[in-house]
This record gives sequence, C-alpha cells and structure tokens, in this order.
Amino acid sequence: MNTSDELTEPLEAAAAILRAARSVVVLTGAGISAESGVATFRDAGGLWEGHRVTDVATPDAFRRDPAFVWRFYNARRDNLTRVSPNPGHLALVAMEQRWKSAFAVVTQNVDNLHRVAGNERIHELHGNLHRTRCTGCGVIADRGLEPLGDAPMCPECGHFLRPDIVWFNEILPQDVWEAALFAVHDCDCLIVVGTSAVVYPAAGLIPLAKRKTPPAKVIEVNLDPTLDNDLIDVVLAGPSGVVLPRLMAMVDA
Ligand code: OAD
Repeated sequence: MNTSDELTEPLEAAAAILRAARSVVVLTGAGISAESGVATFRDAGGLWEGHRVTDVATPDAFRRDPAFVWRFYNARRDNLTRVSPNPGHLALVAMEQRWKSAFAVVTQNVDNLHRVAGNERIHELHGNLHRTRCTGCGVIADRGLEPLGDAPMCPECGHFLRPDIVWFNEILPQDVWEAALFAVHDCDCLIVVGTSAVVYPAAGLIPLAKRKTPPAKVIEVNLDPTLDNDLIDVVLAGPSGVVLPRLMAMVDA
C-alpha cells in the first residue's frame, strides 16, 4: 500500500534534521491547543475577534474594570476544565523523553496543557491561567481551575488578585525569558508550532535561532504557515495534532 502524501517529503526532511539534532526547542502558540478545543487569538472566530485587546488584556483594562477582565479569564479558565492535551502535545512529551535535558518547550500559551500532557522543561513566556498574582503583596498562587468569582481578593493582604499572565504593555518574567533565550541559543533545531509569530519578544526567538552561530534548523508546523522563507528550513503544513505524531513516528522509525 502506498501511504505517501504531500506531507511525506517535508516530514522526511524534518525527521532527518531531528535525528541529527543534539538539542531541540519547540516554540508553541495557541494553534497547538486548537484541536483540544482552546480558542486561538487571530484565526476566524478567535478570541481577538470577539474582544478588544485593550478591554481585557492590558494593565489599564484591569485598573478600569477588574470584574470585566476577570469574567473574560474566568470563561477561559472554565473552558480549561473541559479540555485535555491532544496528540500534538503528547508528541512533545515523546520528544522530551528522547532528548531529555537537551529539550525544552517555550510556550506563549497560558492553558497549562503542556504540563498536563507531561512535559517538564517548559518556559511559559506569557504566564499560566492556573495562577493568580496579588496586585498588592505580589504573592503568586497556583489556584488550579477552582472558580474564583469576578473580583477575587488576596487572602493575605485584601488587594485584588489578577491572573498571573503577561498582558500587552507588560514585560515578560525575566527569569523565564532568560531561560528561553538560553535554550534557543543552545539548540540546533527549533520547531515553531501553531503561532502567528506576531507578538514580541516571543516571535523574536525565531530569527535569533536562525541567525545565531551556528544557526539552528527551523521547522514550522502550522495549518496555515506564515513565517518568511528565509527563516524556515522545512514547512509542515497541517494540524499539529496530526503532523507532530507523524514526525515523531518517522524520527523513531
Ligand atoms: P494566534 O491566534 O495569533 O495564532 C494561532 C496560529 O495557530 C495561526 O498561525 C494558525 O494558523 C495556527 N493554527 C490554528 N490551528 C492549528 C492547528 N490545529 N495546528 C497547527 N496550527 C494551527 O496565536 P498565538 O500565535 O499563540 O498573548 O498568539 C500569540 C500571543 O498573542 C498569545 O500568547 C496572546 C495573543 O495576544 C497574550 O495574550 C499576551
């Protein structure tokens, strides 16, 4: 039986890169969780179609109307109680098992699904919806997915809690960003999965990988690939929940 299709050739090229790779980093965006039932941001029907960034994802929006902002994030937290990792996430667990400490996931996602899947080396650039941070005393707490209400207060100091995620006009947590930079500097293959790569500084990791010495090989996995040709060695166009397991099966074959 001939099972080859239009993905076979690029998959073989990507698998050859991976088999030769000493160290691998995967940069993920919302697309990797789409097949789990988590909305992306910029696709048709995505979160930024129904909401203005300036209403729900900036420090000013939270200062103006914390309850409105919390309703947006509580709806996303509630959705997370009904979703689970998909085969794309699980393929990244298989990668970590293969490359061990020479592997890392750098994610823009706040949905915690890489952790639920079983990855351990994860750099969450934009925070995590499971955590709250106090706007007064700064205490960060893992609240899981328990209902929090529209105006949760800090049990320690009585100030408003906010989601421990990074909003527009905020800087990334320095330790996480430095760890991500280190991982990308050290890798010889960067796989970019399910991101429109328009939000910085996260998107800047891709040219960094390509222009460092020696440059990393860059593989893009996306339903609708978007990266410039000069940044990419192999494009795998398709849903990550299908493409990534096929890729790992080839690497292991
Ligand atoms: P976007 O919504 O901008 O992009 C999602 C990408 O995933 C698009 O390129 C889609 O083509 C692709 N995609 C969709 N379904 C897919 C699938 N099944 N398999 C593979 N690819 C698929 O989301 P991000 O790039 O993650 O930041 O957005 C980056 C940041 O912008 C987010 O972290 C968030 C947002 O504003 C903050 O909130 C700070």
